[in-house]
Amino acid sequence: MSNNKLQEKPPSEMDINRIRADFPILNQEIHGCRLAFLDNAASAQRPTAVIDAVSRYYQHDHANVHRGVHTLSHRATDAYEGAREKIRGFINATSISEIVFTSGTTEAINLIASSLGQSISADDEILISHMEHHSNIVPWQMLCERTGAVLRVAPINEDGELLVDEMISLMSDRTRLVALTHISNALGTINPIEIIITAAHERNIPVLIDGAQAVPHTNIDVQKLGCEFYVFSGHKMCGPTGIGILYGREDWLERLPPWQGGGEMILSVNFEEAVYNRLPYKFEAGTPNIAGAIGLGAAIDYLQAIGMDNIAAYEATLLDYLTDQLSNVSDLQLIGTAKRKAGVQSFVIKDIHPHDLGTVLDHKGIAIRTGHHCAMPVMDFFEVPGTARASLAFYNTHEDVDQLIEGLAVAKDIFT
Ligand SMILES: Cc1ncc(COP(=O)(O)O)c(C=O)c1O
Repeated sequence: MSNNKLQEKPPSEMDINRIRADFPILNQEIHGCRLAFLDNAASAQRPTAVIDAVSRYYQHDHANVHRGVHTLSHRATDAYEGAREKIRGFINATSISEIVFTSGTTEAINLIASSLGQSISADDEILISHMEHHSNIVPWQMLCERTGAVLRVAPINEDGELLVDEMISLMSDRTRLVALTHISNALGTINPIEIIITAAHERNIPVLIDGAQAVPHTNIDVQKLGCEFYVFSGHKMCGPTGIGILYGREDWLERLPPWQGGGEMILSVNFEEAVYNRLPYKFEAGTPNIAGAIGLGAAIDYLQAIGMDNIAAYEATLLDYLTDQLSNVSDLQLIGTAKRKAGVQSFVIKDIHPHDLGTVLDHKGIAIRTGHHCAMPVMDFFEVPGTARASLAFYNTHEDVDQLIEGLAVAKDIFT
C-alpha cells in the first residue's frame, strides 16, 4: 500500500481499490474485457513496491554478496541479509540462522529430502498425506527409491479433509519424518497442523510443513507451531519468482549435512577436506538470488503494512461469497468442501472439460487454473481428470467473482 498504514479492520472495498492501484498488472484488459485474476494459488501478482525494490537494487546496488570489500558489495550484502531478517520476523523464527534461501518450496523440500535422506535406510518410513502437491510427494518417492524406505500416505475424506486419526495411527517408530501441507493448493483445505505436530513430537518424529499456500494468507509463527521445518515460496506472496525459504529449527539444521557443495557454504577448503560454513550459509552454495531475496523482503514489508489478519479476514469473506455464488450454478460440483478453508475453490461443471472452461473464461478476461494442479492423487481420489480452480488474493473483489459467474454462464451456453 502506498501509505503503508496499518489498518484495524478488514479492508473495505474502497481500501481494496487503493490496494489494487498498487498492482499495475491488474489494470489492463484481456481480450477487450476487464482482467479478473483468480489464479493466485499458482502465483500472485507483485505490487509496485516489490518491482521498484528489485529495479532499484539492479540500478544502484548490485554486486556479489559476502565477498567484497567495496561499497556495492557491502550494500548488496546489507540488503540481502536485511531481507533475511525481515523473513525471520515475518514467521517469528528465533534467529536468522534458521532462514535458508532456496529457489522455492520445491527446492526447500528437495534440500531436506537430500540432506535428511543421507541417514534414511530401508527400515524407515516417510509419512505424507493424500492431498500433497507433487513437490511434497516426488522428492520423498525419489528418496524411497534410493534407500528402500517406504512412503506412507494418510487418507482424506470426500470433503477433502485430512483423516487426522488415520494419519496419527500411521506414525510409528519407523517414521523418520512427517511432511504435510498446511493448506492444500487443489482443495483449499486448512490442515490441523498443530494436532499433527503434537502427535508426531509425542513419538519423537520431526515434521516438515509445506506452507506454500499458507504464508500468503495468514499469520505464521514457527515458534508457536514448533515444527522442525516450514517451507514456502516468494512468488505466491507477492515476491519475485525463483526465491523461497526453508525455515529449519537451528538444532536440526546444525545436525543435517549440506546438500550442495561450492562457494559460500565453506569456511576453508584444501584438497583433503572442506570445513563447512555456519548456518544458514552451510545450505546456500553458490551465488544466491540476491534480487529475489530483496524483492521478497519488500513483499513482506508490503503485506505487513496491510496486516496479515486483515488479509485473512477479507479473503475469508470473499471466499464465502465465491462459494455461495458457485453453489448457485447448476450442474456445478464443488471439489473441496472442508470446514476450514482458505481462498481456493476447485469445481467441475457437468459435460464441460476444465480446459475448455478455462479457455472460454480467458476470452472474458478471467484467469483461473484448470488441470490437475500438480496434485494428481487428489484428482484420482475425486475421479476427475482435472478441475477448474479459482483462487483468491487480498486484491480480488466481489466484482471479480461476479465476472467469473457471468463467464461460467457463457461457457454453459456454448457447451451444454
Ligand atoms: C502446496 C504447494 N506446495 C508446493 C508448491 C510448489 O511451489 P514452487 O513451485 O514455488 O516451488 C506449490 C505450488 O503451487 C503448492 O501450492
